[in-house]
Amino acid sequence: LWRTQALRGGILGGGWNQYRGPCRVRAWDWGVPGRLELVGGGWCMSDEAAAHYSPALEQLALGRRFLRQELGGCATPRVAWQIDPFGHSRQLAAIFAQMGYDGLFVGRVDHQDKGTREELRELEMIWRASGSLDPPSADIFTGILPNVYNPPSGFCWDQLCSDPPVVDEDSEENNVDNIVSSFLHIALSQRYRTNHIIMTMGSDFHYENANLWFKNMDKLITHVNARQANGSRVHVLYSTPSCYLWELHQANLSWSLKTDDFFPYSDGPHQFWTGYFTSRPAFKRYERLSNNFLQICSQLEALAGPVAREGPYGPGDSSVLREAVAVAQHHDAVSGTEKQHVADDYARQLAEGWESCQVLVANALASLGGRKENFVFCNALNISVCPLTETTSRFTLILYNPLGRPVSWPIRLPVNGASYAVTDPQGQPVLSEVSPGCPPPHPGVSPPPAHELGVTGVTLDPQHVRVLFDPLTGHLKEIQNLDKSISLPVFQSFYWYNASVGNDESLQTSGAYIFRPNSSQPIPVSSSKRVPTYLVKNALVQEVHQNFSSWCSQVVRLRVGQPYVELEWTVGPIPVEDGWGKEIISRFETTLQTDGRFYTDSNGRQVLERRRDYRPTWNLSQTEPVAGNYYPVNSRIFIKDKKFQLTVLTDRSQGGSSIFDGSLELMVHRRLLYDDNRGVGEPLVELGANRQGLVVRGRHLVLLDTVESSAERHRLLAQELFMAPYVVLAPGGGSSYGRGQPSLQQFSGLRQELPPNVHLLTLAPWGAGTLLLRLEHQFERGESANSSQPVTIDLLTLFSAFAITSLQEMSLGGDLPLDAVSRLVWTPSRPVPKLDPSRVTLQPMEIRTFLATVQYQEPGAGVGGA
Ligand SMILES: *[C@@H]1O[C@H](CO)[C@@H](O)[C@H](O)[C@H]1NC(C)=O
Ligand SMILES: *[C@@H]1O[C@H](CO)[C@@H](O)[C@H](O)[C@H]1NC(C)=O
Ligand SMILES: *[C@@H]1O[C@H](CO)[C@@H](O)[C@H](O)[C@H]1NC(C)=O
Ligand SMILES: *[C@@H]1O[C@H](CO)[C@@H](O)[C@H](O)[C@H]1NC(C)=O
Ligand SMILES: *[C@@H]1O[C@H](CO)[C@@H](O)[C@H](O)[C@H]1NC(C)=O
Ligand SMILES: *[C@@H]1O[C@H](CO)[C@@H](O)[C@H](O)[C@H]1NC(C)=O
Ligand SMILES: *[C@@H]1O[C@H](CO)[C@@H](O)[C@H](O)[C@H]1NC(C)=O
Ligand SMILES: *[C@@H]1O[C@H](CO)[C@@H](O)[C@H](O)[C@H]1NC(C)=O
Repeated sequence: LWRTQALRGGILGGGWNQYRGPCRVRAWDWGVPGRLELVGGGWCMSDEAAAHYSPALEQLALGRRFLRQELGGCATPRVAWQIDPFGHSRQLAAIFAQMGYDGLFVGRVDHQDKGTREELRELEMIWRASGSLDPPSADIFTGILPNVYNPPSGFCWDQLCSDPPVVDEDSEENNVDNIVSSFLHIALSQRYRTNHIIMTMGSDFHYENANLWFKNMDKLITHVNARQANGSRVHVLYSTPSCYLWELHQANLSWSLKTDDFFPYSDGPHQFWTGYFTSRPAFKRYERLSNNFLQICSQLEALAGPVAREGPYGPGDSSVLREAVAVAQHHDAVSGTEKQHVADDYARQLAEGWESCQVLVANALASLGGRKENFVFCNALNISVCPLTETTSRFTLILYNPLGRPVSWPIRLPVNGASYAVTDPQGQPVLSEVSPGCPPPHPGVSPPPAHELGVTGVTLDPQHVRVLFDPLTGHLKEIQNLDKSISLPVFQSFYWYNASVGNDESLQTSGAYIFRPNSSQPIPVSSSKRVPTYLVKNALVQEVHQNFSSWCSQVVRLRVGQPYVELEWTVGPIPVEDGWGKEIISRFETTLQTDGRFYTDSNGRQVLERRRDYRPTWNLSQTEPVAGNYYPVNSRIFIKDKKFQLTVLTDRSQGGSSIFDGSLELMVHRRLLYDDNRGVGEPLVELGANRQGLVVRGRHLVLLDTVESSAERHRLLAQELFMAPYVVLAPGGGSSYGRGQPSLQQFSGLRQELPPNVHLLTLAPWGAGTLLLRLEHQFERGESANSSQPVTIDLLTLFSAFAITSLQEMSLGGDLPLDAVSRLVWTPSRPVPKLDPSRVTLQPMEIRTFLATVQYQEPGAGVGGA
């Protein structure tokens, strides 16, 4: 639900009338500092399923930094407040812990999970959010609120509510006794473990007329506490989440331990909130790509220094994109659960951010490369549109790789000539081919001959991988890893689930949030026995183009040197003239013996095991055999047996599952005709630019490997996908190209490449002369014999563009020195080791954050060398 700045949720904490400990903020004491506490503190309250860890942690850091700058250190939030997101992820919990939060409160957990926890009195627990990091660094106390974020029933006093106000005058309408008794009954029947009880007093859009709330709460407090004269032992007061948390901590109990996550979320037997994992797929991709560009923009700003902001192309600014990407993490933004005009506004904000970052990138490239060009940015390469390359016969391509290691990355540009000579910075030829476009070739170019698949089928095998197609059906039927001599039958095709419009059992429809198929059996997109296909082969790439229907097609692509199969799907406009909403999936069927298990990532980072019709912490009664088995796939999903693993990497967040053994599926697009009654108030119809229905294109990268080698491959490839190189163009062959003296054809921001298990997660300007650095170990413990080892790097000699004159280790948010973080201790902790910048060791899954004071080298002093 999109909401404005309406304050939600005042807090009323109740408990026995005895306050012992010195709560750090004496919030109950009207009139002293501490009455107002900021919770959460991110730029927004982020989504947890579709948000990737990189922008998710940055939006939190951005908000915290803002609070600190505007309000000072006292405003630093101590409590993570995720009261509305629709399910909770393990990786985000780990991030909250490492940002220094004392605890996390959540509102929405599965109704069966909550029921079980109420019985066991486990609504509050310690969440161990990493299997790799040493406890308690990723442990966080987690509390489930009693009533999502709403007040107890009967106690809603906003102008939007209809509960009776407290009447305490001497009149016939006096209802004090009833109200107090009913409140005491609710307070005393809560199933929490201590005598302290939290109640949220507020909801969506409340406090526009705050007097209503406060007048009634003041009366409630007075009259409930007056009962103490008659023996009541309940004391009620205005409180804050961290005061409540403090009291729980004082109770010195040992809490149950949770290690999995809170997905999927359902608030009823046919109400699984698993549709939003896929809703608005084009926006989900745009958000992912925008973070990719933001990281590039920040890196170049850090590498070029102040000149990036005031260079020859005008004032450049990364903050517009940083803030747009931050707000896009909102739980009704990247989640796809906002109204259409709100989604349009998020996209507009991102587009504005791209513009000011492009000025910055041009300034930085001019400075680092020592030459001013007419840089051109082609924003529509995803639909093969770039006016420069389509109209000129000679142009320069500038590539920036944001990773700390070399990558081999294919570049596709729409062109108009029949053949091109491409040379690298050293003047050496680079392999290139002109191939027919997809969708259909541009007018004026005759495509190379395309072949129908013959009677014997077709084989693509440029180098490392071979893919076989069924000559009768045109479907993919087998994948072979030629390096390892592995082959696996893999059938792949597209299907659609018929969206439920509600039935006698439940009126619930499939909508922006909720996935409810009419039937568990999806319908094939292609109704014909044989999918029309054609083949394109050249020296660099081999492709089979498959046409499933007028609105669903796919290119199966293998490139020389690439160890994976690329499936580029194009889906839409999804036809709905028949009156049935449709949810489109790509399904892979293999012979792997998977025993009900499959694996999905948590915000693009940790991997969690999933089991069909099973939850690790309660005895599930499965009520939706498909929707109840869907999980967020932020970056990857895989299935495996004892020997082999089939991994599919995605280019954006999608929903995914394994509905029967040996299979896996990803939902790529959905178009629905009814609202699902969770607050959007609109059906998810997405008309798109042509008003006919949105067309979406995306990629699945498929890896077949041994179980032992798979992590190595999917970790690195997923990193290349979310931090892909950026293309900048300029007309002409480069006036100074190969001749100009100060100009550099090649520049590297690093003096030496990073080991493959280390990722430079953040390199961004922080203040005058200071940069924020985040380095992460991107493997989990035990995931790879080689890459899961601790790794040590020398930060002092790493960068070429500047010298680090001092370095301070910070908490993950970058706002607190690591040794100044003091969290409530729920489980025993360890001291912070001393920092040696020349020997910084990263343990599996560890992220370390530093504030570096830097001095830039003189311009033209041979930074990095050519
Ligand atoms: C306390 O009990 C007495 C006797 O039953 C009653 O008259 C009085 O109203 C009660 N006070 C409160 C605050 O409930
Ligand atoms: C907390 O409980 C433990 C036993 O569980 C006990 O050893 C310790 O003294 C208690 N601490 C306080 C401050 O009460
Ligand atoms: C889709 O579901 C509707 C009920 O909502 C049903 O009438 C229709 O026959 C279904 N279509 C197919 C192709 O199964
Ligand atoms: C699916 O559609 C049929 C009508 O074709 C209806 O009888 C059935 O109840 C629907 N099921 C769901 C879950 O919507
Ligand atoms: C794909 O097939 C549909 C008919 O199912 C046809 O209308 C469409 O033109 C075909 N598309 C291509 C690119 O061949
Ligand atoms: C699940 O069921 C088993 C067997 O009936 C029982 O032993 C176990 O305690 C149950 N677990 C929960 C969390 O209810
Ligand atoms: C191409 O990217 C733009 C954003 O730059 C996005 O709006 C559009 O939907 C994408 N097109 C397709 C076909 O995915
Ligand atoms: C692990 O490292 C050793 C030594 O560098 C190398 O020989 C081996 O091939 C590596 N194994 C994998 C799975 O990468």
